[in-house]
Amino acid sequence: MQKKVHIKSYGCQMNAYDSVRMAEAMAPDGYAETADIEAADLIVLNTCHIREKAAEKIYSELGRLRLIRDRRRTEGLSTTIAVAGCVAQAEGAEIIARAPLVDLVVGPQSYHRLPELVRRVRDGGGKAVETDFPAEDKFAALPARQKRQGPAAFLTIQEGCDKFCTFCVVPYTRGAEFSRPVAAVMAEAEKLAGYGVRELTVLGQNVNAYTGEGPSGEVWGLARLLAALAEIPGIERLRYTTSHPADMNDDLIAAHRDIPALMPYLHLPFQAGSDRILAAMNRKHTGAHYLRLVERIRGARPDLALSTDIIVGFPGESGEDFAATMAIVEEVGFASAYSFKYSPRPGTPAATMPGQVPEAEKAERLAILQARLNEQQAAFNAAQVGRVLPVLFERPGRKPGQIAGRSPYLQAVHVEAEGIRIGEIFPVHITHAGPNSLSGVIITGTNSGMKRFIADGSGTDAVAPQTAELLS
Ligand code: SAH
Ligand code: SF4
Ligand code: F3S
Repeated sequence: MQKKVHIKSYGCQMNAYDSVRMAEAMAPDGYAETADIEAADLIVLNTCHIREKAAEKIYSELGRLRLIRDRRRTEGLSTTIAVAGCVAQAEGAEIIARAPLVDLVVGPQSYHRLPELVRRVRDGGGKAVETDFPAEDKFAALPARQKRQGPAAFLTIQEGCDKFCTFCVVPYTRGAEFSRPVAAVMAEAEKLAGYGVRELTVLGQNVNAYTGEGPSGEVWGLARLLAALAEIPGIERLRYTTSHPADMNDDLIAAHRDIPALMPYLHLPFQAGSDRILAAMNRKHTGAHYLRLVERIRGARPDLALSTDIIVGFPGESGEDFAATMAIVEEVGFASAYSFKYSPRPGTPAATMPGQVPEAEKAERLAILQARLNEQQAAFNAAQVGRVLPVLFERPGRKPGQIAGRSPYLQAVHVEAEGIRIGEIFPVHITHAGPNSLSGVIITGTNSGMKRFIADGSGTDAVAPQTAELLS
């Protein structure tokens, strides 16, 4: 009988990618993926350690899993419970000490060994803890990509981080920076394109620090890799995330002008506006540096939508420092953003810095910040009404007859339409904007009215570059 695996992913896109690859790694052992956790013979929690809440969530989830495991037991079914990801790396065997129902713990650089560890546990070999480090072993050992649903896919090209921001656990949970060789990345991208992937988001904890070994031994940066990926037949759209401001080099900025497939959306965390706080965070950039960078990237791609990460209440942050963060928000105008209260993480330098900010103050600052960011996001969405945007359709919508996709600016777009297939890109006349999504009407390529709309110039400003290309 076929066995089933359920993988629950927390945290960043790198974890989402790892979860897909873990599912693929289990397939040769006869495991099919299931969305139904109660039906799973193997449950994997792919965890995140970035903030205290994220890490604690795992233990409450494990409490719920105990009930599921016990229920299955009464039916004579066994359940293997695995903890993977960054909590696994950070806490290792402590997880089993605190939650004895866990059978195995596997770190982010060792999950290629998941099938073997599961076999060992199921064959009565006791608990397994595997938190070895080098990333290259993993990629070399994982099975080739398999056919999956969905025209948008992630592809990890870089792992780890050498930046050591003083608040962050990633350098400890993911290890040192490592870039996959160009040939390996290209082979995986070609395989995905062959399976119908149209949009590829290349990933790394610090993706713009990518320095992969090229085919003749020379080093490729991210810009060169993106140019090569854009040439793969079927790949219509490219994105990359997450970037560090200190690694946005001239080539990468130029790529936003020169590579049409590179979507006009960039996630570029700035964390804080005050130079004093940025220095204490060890961010290696100032507020002015960030603003100048934004100006230069927008110079290369004027319609660029920006997203960011911001932390409030870092140790020592005064009201004035927080005002400097708000000033950057005002100056840039973000299409979307993720903002967090500073969360002290064991083992990181900031956790023991003096001047820890009281919880209430953090909450107050976060509320002010998020209110403004929500306004900016709503304004950015509202500004799309009346424009025509190329939308890559990714899945059926929630309502019957509805189909959902993404704009170049990563906004969710819903339309009601018959006969549109998942994986197609169509121009959509945006008629409505909500806080988190857009809706509109599809314009088919043969619609002469639409062509006139572009040809007579009346709509040129309103048409995103890829739309004009699509209709030409
Ligand atoms: N590599 C990315 C982000 C990794 S973590 C970068 O360099 O920016 C994602 C986000 O979580 C970070 O950008 C930061 O805003 C937030 N974060 C990380 N550690 C945190 C902590 N201790 N408390 C609160 N937020 C944190
Ligand atoms: Fe963490 Fe900083 Fe590295 Fe980003 S750059 S992963 S915030 S240490
Ligand atoms: Fe979380 Fe690890 Fe990603 S800590 S944000 S899952 S790199």
